[in-house]
Amino acid sequence: MTPFPVTVRGLGLGLPAGVVTNDDLAKTLDTNDEWISARTGIRSRRVLEDDKALSHIAILAGKEALEESGVDPNDIHLTIVATVTPDTFMPATACRVAAALGCHQSGALDLNIACSGFLYAFITACAQIKSGLAQNVLVIGGDTLSRITNWEDRRTAVLFGDGAGAAVLSAGGPGELLGYDYGAKGHLSEALQITAGPSRPSDNPTDYKTQMDGRAVFRFATAAMVDSSRRSLAMAQLPLDKVDLVVPHQANLRIIESAAKKWGLPMEKVCVNLDKYGNVSAGSIPIALAEAKKEGRIKPGHHILLAGFGGGLSWGSVVLKWGNLC
Ligand code: COA
Repeated sequence: MTPFPVTVRGLGLGLPAGVVTNDDLAKTLDTNDEWISARTGIRSRRVLEDDKALSHIAILAGKEALEESGVDPNDIHLTIVATVTPDTFMPATACRVAAALGCHQSGALDLNIACSGFLYAFITACAQIKSGLAQNVLVIGGDTLSRITNWEDRRTAVLFGDGAGAAVLSAGGPGELLGYDYGAKGHLSEALQITAGPSRPSDNPTDYKTQMDGRAVFRFATAAMVDSSRRSLAMAQLPLDKVDLVVPHQANLRIIESAAKKWGLPMEKVCVNLDKYGNVSAGSIPIALAEAKKEGRIKPGHHILLAGFGGGLSWGSVVLKWGNLC
């Protein structure tokens, strides 16, 4: 593909204050820090206060990204909130978020493709910009997985957390979208699902919580992330050794390490923050990206690979040349 000029002008974080450690979980669940750390790499996660909803952390993230970008909120043409845990099904959480941030000229939509959500939203934002329908798009990925976790199920409860991250994307350079890929295999959806919903009600409360075949997801995850990255990099005509930093979905350290091995990249080039936050679904990649930027790991001209997978089962990846605006 011809490199398309689009620049990430600002990034932001929205993290709940409440920290739940593995030892905290072990007080009520038949689990322990040793098992969780060794099998997942997770040591703690953030959990949102009961009286707050996703929009609270999405607004925090969006505000920080907008401030860093210098873009007037009235010049945002579209606000996308990627999430599987909206405040409500109506209105879309993006409507509340856009209003709170003063994005009064902005379209607003929620996008649900679980943990792949930020990548799908990022690609959608680029498409809007490339078509000329939008100059500036606010992309927020965030989830409150604590709300859809069965806290009595040790196979899932230890994995998930809450948080949001945001990016302001603007038309034009110096940044470039070099390649992208996304997809889903719906016939594998039972490996990671919530069986009840607004049009499929259930009397059983646990049907509204996340159910997972951990081993099936594990098998899918590495291959999906690596294969998708290869397709994006082929589109970008970029060899793997030219990638400066990978920001993978933060689900399990073993999945990330296995992918790094397949990519042939040293772990120093791969962002990992799941030890602090666990799996934050659509929030995972933008949080890791914003933290990497704050830590000075992203420089102008760097080639950045974002790659993830999730419920669907789905996947996505994006190859960017980083601009120097933020
Ligand atoms: N604490 C202690 N023991 C636990 C446990 C926990 N939290 N969860 C499961 N176990 C036990 C199991 O009951 C099993 O015991 P058994 O051998 O007596 O039956 C044993 O640990 C091994 O379970 P298994 O499921 O085979 O472990 P695993 O090595 O596959 O690790 C996951 C489990 C969930 C960590 C791993 O499969 C995984 O990360 N999968 C991907 C999940 C994911 O990323 N989901 C989100 C995608 S976006």
